[in-house]
Amino acid sequence: MTNVVVVGSQWGDEGKGKIVDWLSERADIVVRFQGGHNAGHTLVIDGVSYKLSLLPSGIVRPGKIAVIGNGVVLDPHALLAEIEKLGAQGVKVTPENLRVADNATLILSLHRELDGMREDAASNSGTKIGTTRRGIGPAYEDKVGRRAIRVMDLADMETLPGKVDRILTHHNALRRGLGEKEVSHEAIMQELTSVADRVLPFRETVWELLDKQRRKGARILFEGAQGSLLDIDHGTYPFVTSSNTVAGQASAGSGMGPGALGYILGITKAYTTRVGEGPFPTELKDEIGQFLGEKGHEFGTVTGRKRRCGWFDAALVRQSVATNGITGIALTKLDVLDGLDELKICVGYMLDGQQIDHLPASQGAQARVEPVYVTLEGWKESTVGARSWADLPAQAIKYVRQVEELIGAPVALLSTSPERDDTILVTDPFED
Ligand code: GDP
Ligand code: IMO
Ligand code: MG
Repeated sequence: MTNVVVVGSQWGDEGKGKIVDWLSERADIVVRFQGGHNAGHTLVIDGVSYKLSLLPSGIVRPGKIAVIGNGVVLDPHALLAEIEKLGAQGVKVTPENLRVADNATLILSLHRELDGMREDAASNSGTKIGTTRRGIGPAYEDKVGRRAIRVMDLADMETLPGKVDRILTHHNALRRGLGEKEVSHEAIMQELTSVADRVLPFRETVWELLDKQRRKGARILFEGAQGSLLDIDHGTYPFVTSSNTVAGQASAGSGMGPGALGYILGITKAYTTRVGEGPFPTELKDEIGQFLGEKGHEFGTVTGRKRRCGWFDAALVRQSVATNGITGIALTKLDVLDGLDELKICVGYMLDGQQIDHLPASQGAQARVEPVYVTLEGWKESTVGARSWADLPAQAIKYVRQVEELIGAPVALLSTSPERDDTILVTDPFED
């Protein structure tokens, strides 16, 4: 029996929500440890779809505790709106089943505005990141700059006004520089006091809760957001998100020591997608890319943007296996590849006439690399809804085996549709 960390091994949207939901049956606690409502995790249970951005995917299962850890940046309005939306779908969120770290950083309206202003300004110069405009980056900047307002501050009306002054000194200087209107102290105080009563009941000393539960033998499931190639250090910088998305962050972003993390499960799509700007060596701008996008319904859950699609990049995932310490993967969306005559897998790149086996760190080199492919035969049979290896065509099994070999990690779970139960279990990560 062990704890399990789920991370995305590509550029996000690998199907983390579906797999976390499936695994959460076996867990007692599900913890988010980074990111914010830039995430969009879709679960489909008996034909009903749930879209979660901030709440851990375990929230839909009765009897589980969902935790938002200190590593998350929390927009209180987004939290309250998501709780209401889930309530309308019959999922009750109360302080019984949701705990929010008292030391988590808050996203304020000024963060969202700054994110948008910067993206608008960068659009004109062709340098935008293509963020979700949720204020994620600016909120993390304030956290590291030691001027953030945190959940616990909502309960301390004596110190809050001074903290608001401090954050405004910084933001109003930026806003003046961008030619935008300044924000008043009263406006931010009003924004914070209007949500305090509804957010504070969820506050928790999360490190202590996790420590107690771990000692009692509870099974803890960590739910990563985004993907390893969007990691602030290990991703395709600067086209990344503003947090560490790799598995090590599960510890720092929750307060549970790294020795207790256990099995690291990398969620891996059977092809590659990315939303927003940035390098994407195996991107397909042809009819095959369009086929993958349409068949895989590759539209962003959060922004509705079309996701860029391409062949599976084993060189990138091999890198993620290393940077996360991935024990095994959950391979998702294999069914989307049904019907293609042949399939390509990227095994490395050509850079300035030399073959290399990993994506270089420099932005210029990342833009110049050309993928080196191996080609496999496709399969015509449908794998949609397959629930055992025996249901898979021989060529599909060959593809999976090739992926395992190239990335250097075994498949623990295989997903063949958005539905919770259309999942093949090879190795139970909690029992490994
Ligand atoms: P996440 O951000 O990693 O949780 O992934 P998203 O939920 O943003 O995107 C994954 C999409 O693929 C969702 O719409 C899922 O319902 C869907 N999905 C997950 N697994 C599978 C699968 O095995 N096959 C198919 N066809 N769709 C899947
Ligand atoms: P899930 O958890 C895919 C991308 C954005 C943009 C970059 C920076 O659903 O896999 P940000 O708003 O975070 O500053 O945007 O990161 N991005 C995601 N792409 N899936 C996500 O989350 C993402 N969260 C952020 O598109 O390129
Ligand atoms: Mg998503």
